[in-house]
Amino acid sequence: MSEQHTLLEELLATALVEVQTDDLKSLNDVRVKYLGKKGPIQEAMKAMKGMEPEARKEFGQLVNTVKGQIAAAVENRLLELEQAAIAQRLANETLDITLPAQNLHTGSIHPLQQVVDDITAFFRSMGYEAAEGPEVETDFYNFEMLNLPHDHPARDMQDSFYVDPHRLLRTHTSGVQARTFESRTEAQLPIKVICPGKVYRRDDDDATHSHQFMQIEAFIVDENISMANLKGTLQALARHLFGADREIRLRPSFFPFTEPSVEVDVSCAKCNGAGCNVCKQTGWIEILGAGLIHPNVLTMTGFDPQKVSGFALGMGVERIAMLKYGIEDIRHFYVNDLRFLNQFKR
Ligand code: PHE
Repeated sequence: MSEQHTLLEELLATALVEVQTDDLKSLNDVRVKYLGKKGPIQEAMKAMKGMEPEARKEFGQLVNTVKGQIAAAVENRLLELEQAAIAQRLANETLDITLPAQNLHTGSIHPLQQVVDDITAFFRSMGYEAAEGPEVETDFYNFEMLNLPHDHPARDMQDSFYVDPHRLLRTHTSGVQARTFESRTEAQLPIKVICPGKVYRRDDDDATHSHQFMQIEAFIVDENISMANLKGTLQALARHLFGADREIRLRPSFFPFTEPSVEVDVSCAKCNGAGCNVCKQTGWIEILGAGLIHPNVLTMTGFDPQKVSGFALGMGVERIAMLKYGIEDIRHFYVNDLRFLNQFKR
């Protein structure tokens, strides 16, 4: 009897040592080894069957105590190992929220697009719809429908790259006028359209000229549209772009598709008209061309110039942006220098 006691006590002692393992798998092995169906505790239980009741009771209690102690030791070790695993993960995955944030490099809208968006929003607020036309345009829409027949000398000012004898890189956005008028009838008046886009002209590139640049065209056709409407619109536009104090000045000009035609100057925002280097000492800066739509353009697209009239204006986006932001070289817009572009982050 006491021999069995000793054996059980030794068993308990070794089990308690083996339980101090460092990983879950061997801990489970220890549990199975001692408490499993073929383990020593189970064996001892079987051995009890042949004992005297008195001895059986005493021995049974001892077996239960040993079994309970081993089970508790396994359970404790299990908790310890689990907590150690959590502590380990927390240590590995620390997040130092006091570190400075990573610099996220966000892009920004190109200054030319900002000007386009601004002017488009201005015209939309007055009920204009935005339209687009093809950059490879037909001679028909780029010139002919705008009262610029073949051999018209005004074509010389707008020389461009011909893709074939009838198609060229458009020299201005005015072709969208003809395309729009052709697709509408007098029942659909008023026509109020704004059209931004890229245009192309043979030019010697320098600080103020580029063979590719952007224009915004705006035009309206309705009954009784006059120079007064054009002037009011131009003044509102000039003040929207360059400040509430700006004045405008119209000078006679020529475009085959407008009559009368004007060049529009805005009073210099830098010197307020006194004369400075920006306005070349004149106090005025030319910003766009405009005029009342030529009767021939209306007739060719199916409108009766006796009943309806309209105005059109076309401006260079680069020029507006250069004036607005004091940019001295047009080429800055095209070379994607981040030192330049980052100045236009809003
Ligand atoms: N299309 C003309 C140009 O590019 C500008 C313009 C547009 C003039 C509309 C009058 C009316 O020079």
